[in-house]
Amino acid sequence: MSSMEGEVEVEMEEVCWNAMARGGDRPVEIGVRSGWEEEGLYLTWEDLWVTATNGEGSSRVILAGLTGYARPGEVLAIMGPSGCGKSTLLNALAGRLDSGTNQSGHVLVNGWRQRLAFGTSAYVTQDDILMTTLTVREAVYYSAQLQLPDSMTKSEKKERAEMTIREMGLQEAMNTRIGGQASKGISGGQKRRVSICIEILTRPKLLFLDEPTSGLDSAASYHVMNRIVNLARHDGRTIIASIHQPSSEVFELFDNLCLLSSGKTVYFGPASLTNEFFAQNGFPCPSLRNPSDHYLRTINKDFDEETVRGSSSQSKTTAEAIDILVKSYKLSNIRQEVERRVAEMHRLEGDVVKTRSQASFTTQCIVLTKRSFINMSRDLGYYWLRLAIYVILCLCIGTMFYDIGHSYASIQARGSVLLFISAFLTFMAIGGFPSFVEEMKIFQRERLNGHYGVTAFMISNMLSSAPYLALVSIIPGAMAYYLVGLQHGVDHFIFFVVVLYASMLLVEGLMMIVASIVPNYLMGIIAGAGIQAMMILAAGFFRLPNDIPKPVWRYPIYHIAFHKYTNQAYYKNEFIGLTFPNIQAGRGATITGEEVVKDFWQMEVGYSKWVDLAILFGMVILYRVLFLVIVKTGEKVKPMIRAVLNGPPKHGIQVMGQPSTPLADATL
Ligand SMILES: Nc1ncnc2c1ncn2[C@@H]1O[C@H](COP(=O)(O)OP(=O)(O)OP(=O)(O)O)[C@@H](O)[C@H]1O
Ligand SMILES: [Mg+2]
Repeated sequence: MSSMEGEVEVEMEEVCWNAMARGGDRPVEIGVRSGWEEEGLYLTWEDLWVTATNGEGSSRVILAGLTGYARPGEVLAIMGPSGCGKSTLLNALAGRLDSGTNQSGHVLVNGWRQRLAFGTSAYVTQDDILMTTLTVREAVYYSAQLQLPDSMTKSEKKERAEMTIREMGLQEAMNTRIGGQASKGISGGQKRRVSICIEILTRPKLLFLDEPTSGLDSAASYHVMNRIVNLARHDGRTIIASIHQPSSEVFELFDNLCLLSSGKTVYFGPASLTNEFFAQNGFPCPSLRNPSDHYLRTINKDFDEETVRGSSSQSKTTAEAIDILVKSYKLSNIRQEVERRVAEMHRLEGDVVKTRSQASFTTQCIVLTKRSFINMSRDLGYYWLRLAIYVILCLCIGTMFYDIGHSYASIQARGSVLLFISAFLTFMAIGGFPSFVEEMKIFQRERLNGHYGVTAFMISNMLSSAPYLALVSIIPGAMAYYLVGLQHGVDHFIFFVVVLYASMLLVEGLMMIVASIVPNYLMGIIAGAGIQAMMILAAGFFRLPNDIPKPVWRYPIYHIAFHKYTNQAYYKNEFIGLTFPNIQAGRGATITGEEVVKDFWQMEVGYSKWVDLAILFGMVILYRVLFLVIVKTGEKVKPMIRAVLNGPPKHGIQVMGQPSTPLADATL
């Protein structure tokens, strides 16, 4: 499409809308812009209802039958008072509503029903979820390496990252750490821009932005929005942004406006015609007032003593004003035109949305491992604090059990010290859980935006944590081992450290599983601690294996508790090869290590300590696989559960359905 043609078309479109607004005749048929048809994304929603159910079974309407569209090359702004449903609309369109809500109505992309989650669109959420330990440059650069395809060289990716950082005006803060609750870093507005940077790196075809300008001054808002608008205009991207309080300059950048009040459409149409719509209904914008301020003031009923002065001398309450506007919009020609366009786009049957080409799996694993390794090294709470506490604790163990000797009483003491190390020392690995949960949140955000998958995350987490876990196993382990004076021989010590390492991996794996199930870290710590305490109780120390009650405790808990195998491995490693003086009547003068393990501790001696170690590593793998399965199943099952819970649609025609089903084929 030549630029001349484009201009003519835009002008004709303006004429058409103007005619509509003034209630003129139906304009000549104007097709959707042809220039972007090849690759652009047309998003339409029709009679979209979202309700939230509370615990008592009553439900509350959050979005009430919205209809609208977003087209390539245009920016749609969603505006309305706080709590009117802007984020909910964005979430519904992006297929990301949470489980407490029901959705009905059509949401179509290029005329097809398809799920948008995972890589087809980018979404900048209202909250900034960023890795706080990284600098701005690192955060954007790692993201570029993760998302941009392998066909681009490293330097090209770096260049794109730096260019995007500059576009968002972040060059001054490039080398500053992002920072979080614990340490102050860049400002709130800068964080907002970093979040935007990360999502626009790949120039996504469909971009959702929830309050992109919050925390920014009016000049910064203008520049940020201008870049975003350019992305739409020049690259033919489809952009939907919710926005709180745009300045008049920013407002002029929008093509279309969706004005909501308590989930109802007050206005949907060209932003430039809003003024006329309000004026026609008796609420003209006073001169010298920012039009968007005027619209929001007119439709905000949160403070109900507020009255708005219309063009007539009578003042109206905001509730009345909203009522007038909503009714008037329903009957307006603008709405008819919107519906006509939506119907036209329904018939499009354009391309099915494909996920973007991105970095290969290996690149993703390498980049994620590097990023996670740096994060772990900078986050004191992840491993360093644990190392310090372990060192102190092992000093305590070492002094408490110093030079344990080979007396008969040392059998019990050895058992206790080994149990303490295998159970309580590893138990404390939950201290790093909050840091892991933070990483998990970043994973969930990036996963939803399709940056990488759960397997890459799991592998990278395992690789990056390996050296730290080795450190927290070897140093404190050596201190405890040699201060206590456990069995001599380097091979025994190495085995001891490897078992400690495996136990740490197991606790980490367990906590990963917990993190994938429970919603926050406090609940995670409680759940993780509870599960481990149960396993420790049944591990065969506090109650000897033969005395453990058979149902539940012996079968299955004793056998599935990894502490059983850790203890067995430790006891076999420690006792076998030693002899102790015997003080029990009816036996010889000495008692061998094998007898201690078999008779004193009642352990299974039919297999060697190496089998116990192998079982432990088998469990490490099993726990990681379980984590993968839970996350992957959650991704697949959640939408199904939602569909079942939603039941037959209450207001609309259908719930967003199977991916890639043309509307024509759908059961209406
Ligand atoms: N899962 C849910 N369960 C119950 N109510 C919900 C749920 N999600 C949203 N709501 C309610 O729906 C309304 C709209 O919420 P939403 O977050 O979309 O508002 P918003 O327009 O984005 O507000 P803000 O401008 O403050 O971000 C709010 O009143 C909120 O309390
Ligand atoms: Mg919101």
